[in-house]
Amino acid sequence: MANIQEDKILILDFGSQYTQLIARRVREIGVFTKLYSYDLDFEFIKNFNPKGIILSGGPDSVTSANSARVNPKVFELNIPILGICYGMQTMAVQLGGEATAAKKHEYGYATVNIASPESKLLGPIIDKQQNNKKTIDVWMSHGIEVAKIPEGFSLIASSNNCAIAAIENKNKNFFGIQFHPEVTHTSKGKEILENFVDICGCNKEWTVKNIVLDITKNLKEQIGSNKVLLGLSGGVDSSVVAALLHKAIGNQLNCIFVDNGLLRLNEGNQVMETFSKNMGIKVIRANAQDKFYASLANEEDPELKRKIIGRCFIEVFDDEAKKLKDINFLAQGTIYPDVIESAGSKTGNAKVIKSHHNVGGLPEDLNFELVEPLRNLFKDEVRNIGIELGIPHEMLYRHPFPGPGLGVRILGKVKKEYADILRLADNIFMEELVKADLYNVVNQAFAVFLPVKSVGVTGDERRYDFVISLRAVETIDFMTARWARLPYDFLDVVSNRIINEISRVSRVVYDISGKPPATIEWE
Ligand code: XMP
Repeated sequence: MANIQEDKILILDFGSQYTQLIARRVREIGVFTKLYSYDLDFEFIKNFNPKGIILSGGPDSVTSANSARVNPKVFELNIPILGICYGMQTMAVQLGGEATAAKKHEYGYATVNIASPESKLLGPIIDKQQNNKKTIDVWMSHGIEVAKIPEGFSLIASSNNCAIAAIENKNKNFFGIQFHPEVTHTSKGKEILENFVDICGCNKEWTVKNIVLDITKNLKEQIGSNKVLLGLSGGVDSSVVAALLHKAIGNQLNCIFVDNGLLRLNEGNQVMETFSKNMGIKVIRANAQDKFYASLANEEDPELKRKIIGRCFIEVFDDEAKKLKDINFLAQGTIYPDVIESAGSKTGNAKVIKSHHNVGGLPEDLNFELVEPLRNLFKDEVRNIGIELGIPHEMLYRHPFPGPGLGVRILGKVKKEYADILRLADNIFMEELVKADLYNVVNQAFAVFLPVKSVGVTGDERRYDFVISLRAVETIDFMTARWARLPYDFLDVVSNRIINEISRVSRVVYDISGKPPATIEWE
C-alpha cells in the first residue's frame, strides 16, 4: 500500500477559529494535512515536504505593525500556496501588494463574481455550475482587504463590497481568496479546495479504508508480539482504539472497563455486549460501583467529588492492571485536536480550550510505553473508522457524556438510590428525544437529579418526592451554549412519563440557562 501521508498539505495557522475546519475539509477530499502555527521553523517545513501550503485566516490586522507574517522563504519553495482571508492579505502584502481597511466590515454571506474563467483555481467551478453560472455564494468575515494586487498576480473574483476577493499567480501557483471555502456556507467551497489540492498534484489516498490499513500496520510494527492494556469506557475514542487494536493484534489486547455505578441505564451491559460478546475482545469488567458509592457518600463539594471519582478510577484500574502479567504497552484515545490544543503556539495565537481531566490518569508505578493510534485523527474521522470496524452507530453518535458520569449530575451527595432514579429519568428523556426526531437536533441533553423534595398529588395521594431537571442545549463547541427551545408538548410528554413511571419523582423542571453564565453540567 502506498504511504497515505506521502502527498500532504501543510496548513500554517494564523489563529482563525476555522483553521481546523480547513484541515478537516482537505482530509475529506482525501489528502492528508496537518496544521502548525504560522511561525513554524523553516527546516521543519522543508522536512515535512508538503505538496502545497495553505495559509489560514486569523485575527490580526495585516496593516498593523508587528502583525503575523509567513517566513518569506516559504514563497521560494516552488510549491502551490493558497492564502485564505488573512492568509491572502499577508501573502499579498509580503509579495509587494497593499491592503487597507475595508469600507465596510463584511461579515456573512456575499456573492462573488468569478472574473476570470481561465483561473486555475476558480475557472473549473464555472464549468461545473448550471448554465455555467459565474457567481458563487460565499462566507466572508473581514475588516481589511487587499487594495493593490502584487506583481505577477491577476484578479480572479470580486464582490460588491470587496473589489479584490480572489487573486492568482498562474506561473507560481499562488492563490488568495478573501472568503472562507472551509465553511459550509460557502457553496462550492470544497470544490475550490479540491481544485487546489489537484493543482498541488496530490493523490487522494487519505480514505477510511486506507487509514485503517495504515494504522493497523503501524500498530503491528510498534507492538510486535507484546501485550497492550486499554482502559475502555464505552466512549467514542476508547471504543475505536479497542476495535483498531483488536484488528491489529487480536488477543494481545486486554481491556479494563471500570463500572463506577455512575453510567447511564444498561450502559455497562451494552459495553460488554458490544466488545466482549459481539467482537470477541478480552474485556475485564471491574464492578466497582460499591467502592465509588462508598467513597462519595459524604461529599457534597463538586470539585472534591470529581477528585474522588478520579482517584477511585485509578485505584480500581491499577488493581486490575496488576493482576495482568507481562504488559508493556498502554493504549490511549488521544485525538488530533487534543494534540493541537496542548501544543499551543510559540506566539500564543492558538486558542486555549478548556481541558477536562477525564477518567484514566495513568497508574504511575507501571512502566508502559504509550500507544496512541488516533493521534493524527479528527473526531469525525474517528467515528468513520468506528463505523468501518462495526461499532454500532448509536455508540459513535451519542451526545457527550462526562468522565465522572452521573457524579456531576446528582447534586450533593451521590447515592445508589439517586443514581438509579436519575438513570430511569434520563433514559425516558433520551427515548422520547429519539422518538420525536429531536435527539440530533440538540447537541447534548440529559437529566439532573436534585436532592430536594417537593409536594405533589397522584390520584388522591399526596407525594413528597424528588425533583428532576431536564437540560438540553444547542452548541457548536460546548464552550458556549443556548438552551434548546424544545416544544412544550414534547416536554409535557417527557414530564408525564417521568412522574408516572418513577415513583420517587414528584416534579420535573426544564433548565433555561445559557452558557455563559451557567455551565452545561450542573455539577
Ligand atoms: P460544562 O459543564 O463545563 O461542560 O459547560 C462542557 C462540556 O464538557 C462536558 N464535560 C466533561 N467531559 N470529562 C469529559 O470528558 C469531564 O470531566 C467533563 N465535565 C464536563 C460536558 O458534558 C459538556 O459537554
